[in-house]
Amino acid sequence: MTTVEQARLVGEGVDRVDGPLKVTGAARYPNDFGFPELAHAALVRSTVAAGRISRLDTRAAQDSPGVLAVITHRNAPTLGRAPDTFLSAPPPPLQDDRILHYGQYVAVVVAGTAEEATAAARRVEAEYESTEPVLDLHDPRAEVLTDPFETDSSRGDAEAALASAEVTFEATYTTAANTNNPLGLFTTVAAWDGDALTVHDSTQWPGGLRAALARVFGVPESGVRVLVPFVGGGFGAGLRVWPHVILAALAARTVDRPVKLVLTRPEMFTGIGHRTATEQRVRIGATRDGRLVALGHESTSTLQMEGDNFEPCASGTAYAYACPNVATRDRQVRLNVTWCNSMRAPGEAQGNFALESAMDELSYELGIDPLELRLRNYAEIHPQLGLPWSSKALRECYEVGAERFGWSRRPPEPGSMREGDWLIGYGLAGVSFFWFQKPCQATATLRADGTALVRSAVTDIGTGTYTVMTQLSAELLGLDLPRVTFELGDTELPPGVVAGGSGLTAGLGSAIHAACRNLVQAFLDTVRDDPTSPLAGCAAGEVSVGRGRIHRTGSPEYGESYTDILAAHGLPELSARGASAPNDPQELGLAPAGAFGARFVEVRVDPELGLLRVARVVSVIDAGRILNEKTATSQIIGGTVGGIGMAMFEDTITDPGSGRIANATFGDYLIPVNADVPDMQVVFVGRPDRFNPIGVKGVGEIGLVGMGAAIANAVHHATGRRIRSLPITIDRLL
Ligand code: MOS
Repeated sequence: MTTVEQARLVGEGVDRVDGPLKVTGAARYPNDFGFPELAHAALVRSTVAAGRISRLDTRAAQDSPGVLAVITHRNAPTLGRAPDTFLSAPPPPLQDDRILHYGQYVAVVVAGTAEEATAAARRVEAEYESTEPVLDLHDPRAEVLTDPFETDSSRGDAEAALASAEVTFEATYTTAANTNNPLGLFTTVAAWDGDALTVHDSTQWPGGLRAALARVFGVPESGVRVLVPFVGGGFGAGLRVWPHVILAALAARTVDRPVKLVLTRPEMFTGIGHRTATEQRVRIGATRDGRLVALGHESTSTLQMEGDNFEPCASGTAYAYACPNVATRDRQVRLNVTWCNSMRAPGEAQGNFALESAMDELSYELGIDPLELRLRNYAEIHPQLGLPWSSKALRECYEVGAERFGWSRRPPEPGSMREGDWLIGYGLAGVSFFWFQKPCQATATLRADGTALVRSAVTDIGTGTYTVMTQLSAELLGLDLPRVTFELGDTELPPGVVAGGSGLTAGLGSAIHAACRNLVQAFLDTVRDDPTSPLAGCAAGEVSVGRGRIHRTGSPEYGESYTDILAAHGLPELSARGASAPNDPQELGLAPAGAFGARFVEVRVDPELGLLRVARVVSVIDAGRILNEKTATSQIIGGTVGGIGMAMFEDTITDPGSGRIANATFGDYLIPVNADVPDMQVVFVGRPDRFNPIGVKGVGEIGLVGMGAAIANAVHHATGRRIRSLPITIDRLL
């Protein structure tokens, strides 16, 4: 079989196998599914952020046309709690009268049509005994969690080293809350048949949702089926089992009919999580010639009142640079805000902004080029684990990026490049993204017609999973691409890994690698005692695959096609299962590496109008082996656009008095549009990674990281103004 070493670093950029379905409207998103007798649900949300429901009158709603049920905490059954996974489950909805955040569901109305449900929901009368919400990170009433993820780190003695360093630097950075805004409105369609439940949902993890629904409703997991062939976008918002998903299933159970629930855009702002706001202090100690001797990074981020949110912001600093004395600390503050949740590049997006801005500031203090400063402190081995990286080509990222971007043309002095009214600035950021892999299973089947079917209960959140797994399977089985189909999005398939943490491709790809290897072995087992087969008695290590055949490695003439083997032995097909689990770093003697990257940005600033434009971005990424150049490039481009959003536009504004989200529409919550998105160059460098058998590291999130710092650093270079708060809006530039 093809080994990682033989594979090209960057795989062919074949078109998406699901592209025709998408552009012809044949791809079915959760909202496209229905059932006979489908009823519809609409939600009633709290208009206060803290307190209790004091009065709830549902009579007018109940009497409205078409209404089948109005469910509140008064008549809802007791629901079980979903199991905690690597992300905790929000508590089940409608279990008591407490209000913990604005927009919390206080009722769900079920009716024959969506319009009837929406109209009746408006007639639910709710009053509240409200208390003053805790909304500010510095509110003395707020509960503060220290080291909530047990990721705080220290090596050496950062305090002592800071106290004695030749040069010290300290600054505080803040980032705003951002809200996931996938294009597809999150939808759940739920249908019961006795204790069996079928659900179509905008989830990034069908298996997690199935386990959760079984526990919440106290029914056997085997009877719960989750179907999601297409998600409609998910940048972390689909990782958890949200209250509205449970309410859709509860509504269906209550009225004994299938129910569809589609969130409105404003409900997307309160119901599916958001990126936490942070305040971060970075302290650096260095020698005059630019060697780091101490790094301190303390992050405080927001957290909802119940449950957790795994989102360390400071811990990446522990392995970003070679530095003998490091201390990182994360804290979370409980507020009456909506659920805080992973949003593309959780933690790293905010933490990198602080660290890479501070490194830029230090470079000016020292009079050393920002790129040179980073290279002088390059972490050749994993500085916390003391092990060699499974792969790391960050140096190559910097070098190739500097060359492509023209970094050497950058005059060191801020404000020294000008074109008419525009000041021009160059900025960069170095990026490391964390490594994440979870167990996964897949099956591979070869059929008598020579086609293969590969399956796993994962999702394609738009990233290209259908396509790259078809390519990988074709390669591992030695088949032409059109002969391979990859199926996903159905919990009847082998348990798949979550599409999150940039870890799906490594986990799923490794499972498919195992399944294909086992399938080839199954064919070898079939012919083992067949004297007419040129493969008789061959071990897996002695054969290769290609053109629909298995043959002895180095001797293509000694081989047999899959279809001939099946026919000779009267078999309709052969199948094999494969499972993957993350390797043990100590056993391999390798520190598992996530992706690395360097971002080079040119900005233009009109200082009189406060206008900021990103003119160019060069991104050089080491993500190990790239399975498909086109889809991977699209991932980096998409992430970069998200990063421009975080750096310049996105700001989920909570009204400080009421806790209401003040800009919960696409009209008010700004995201980048085409005119905000410049020419972007993406280059992949490095080598296949050594931590998993397919050599990939994942590209889903690294594309977003570093844009905040690179843009802020470029703004400083253009103007001499240091902006330490994201987003960099006009008012901050004037
Ligand atoms: Mo990603 S924020 O883990 O979907």
